[in-house]
Amino acid sequence: MRALTDPWQIAGHTIENRLVLAPLAGIGNWFVRLQARRYGAGLVVSEMVSSFGLKYGDERTLREFLRIHPDEHPVAIQLFGHDPEAMRAAAGIVAEAGADLIDLNMGCPVRKVCKTGAGASLLDEPDRAVALARAATEGSGLPVTVKLRSGQRPGERTGADLARRLVAEASVAGIGFHPRHASQQHKGEPDVALAAELVEQLGDVPVILSGGLSSDERALAAFERTGAAAVMLARGSLGNPWRFARLVDRYAGEPPAGEVVRELEWVIDRCEDHLGIERAGRYLRKFYPWYADTLGLSKAERRELVEAPTTAAARRALEGLASPLAA
Ligand SMILES: Cc1cc2nc3c(=O)[nH]c(=O)nc-3n(C[C@H](O)[C@H](O)[C@H](O)COP(=O)(O)O)c2cc1C
Repeated sequence: MRALTDPWQIAGHTIENRLVLAPLAGIGNWFVRLQARRYGAGLVVSEMVSSFGLKYGDERTLREFLRIHPDEHPVAIQLFGHDPEAMRAAAGIVAEAGADLIDLNMGCPVRKVCKTGAGASLLDEPDRAVALARAATEGSGLPVTVKLRSGQRPGERTGADLARRLVAEASVAGIGFHPRHASQQHKGEPDVALAAELVEQLGDVPVILSGGLSSDERALAAFERTGAAAVMLARGSLGNPWRFARLVDRYAGEPPAGEVVRELEWVIDRCEDHLGIERAGRYLRKFYPWYADTLGLSKAERRELVEAPTTAAARRALEGLASPLAA
């Protein structure tokens, strides 16, 4: 019987278990990935990075998006774009930055991305999608995986068809499959039966399942029902890296408040190091509600933290939370 704690292989890399941190735009930077690895994720994927941005990017863009911590390997950097030549160049830059794998985004439903011909719009342009995957492989020399959806619109299976072509014609090393169609965005039940079918069809090529894995039970059930090589935690892991630890049997139960507070302090420290104190204060505001949820705070109890305008104010709010809650 397969277990989430079993190791698996992707293009010669041994991944220590079946849990993957999903790509999360505006979130999946090096310290969020490092946190997931600390708590037990076997593989981590970056937020999506523009291939054009890398090709023409300034020093700071490159430094921030391609920053990789020595302890987060194995790590995949996710690229998006529609132009094979830009993809080739960007993939080379990613390889130089020290990534272990490249993941290509062919599932993002956001209009701004799709109207450039990138993300989920590639589901309707399979020839271009294959050319992009080939260019990324050639430009980097790294194994390339592709994350995609079941299709653009309800009832479509273009994503599964494209996955098979990418394996056959571009030798992609794995498929991240989010079996919701793009028009669903992130709502609705993922089609696990379609995922199970794709797993069967791709044989030895690993399918990493994404979508709706918001609880430990759902992640485990989807892993078992689909036969996927691994599962990707996305929204279910925000402010809750303990989910990784529980699913690989390294933790039991809910973390005590003091532990959650210390973890958020760890995040604040890393973010200040990454972006500087001022930018960190703005950037982290989206993180605080996630940790407030994990702490189980009421609206009144969380106010000071979620409205903290600076990291100093957030630290003060946390001091206030740690003592009464940890008692
Ligand atoms: C805020 C946010 C950002 C995301 N960014 C990316 C991204 O950069 N690349 C990508 O392939 N998917 C991205 N996704 C999709 C997730 O990786 C995942 O497939 C999706 O959230 C479904 O999983 P869930 O229902 O368990 O959250 C994003 C999702 C969210 C909610």
